[in-house]
Amino acid sequence: MADVDKWIYSAVVKDHFMHPRGFLMGEPKEGEFDAHGEVGSFACGDIIKLWIKIDKKTERITDVKWQTWGCATAIASASMFSEMLTENEGMNIDEAMKITPKDIAEKLGGLPARKFHCSILADKAFKKAVEAYRLRS
Ligand code: FES
Repeated sequence: MADVDKWIYSAVVKDHFMHPRGFLMGEPKEGEFDAHGEVGSFACGDIIKLWIKIDKKTERITDVKWQTWGCATAIASASMFSEMLTENEGMNIDEAMKITPKDIAEKLGGLPARKFHCSILADKAFKKAVEAYRLRS
């Protein structure tokens, strides 16, 4: 577990930063995803876009892709979060909505306290995407 008071990244953070899961290269194709959410951080001005694909019958998340104009922590957090949402054939939307940035940070082996705000971006974008999905369906 990383020491949250120091500027030290865990091996898990480094791995997700160097090998991001769920990163979307380029723009999504028309109709490729069911909804998307986009947010910016008040703390640093960085942005994240996140797309979701949902199985309409089971409400399981079958795919998550993202892009961020953010720091290493934002990249690692979005990567870990997309993995959490899609493992074991996808999490149910209601279950997924209960995940907090603290859960993401814990899965990453902790984050430096001053970087915690970066882990909030993916979570907020996901919640916006679900909101858009529910409004549409
Ligand atoms: S400093 Fe902006 S997302 Fe990390």
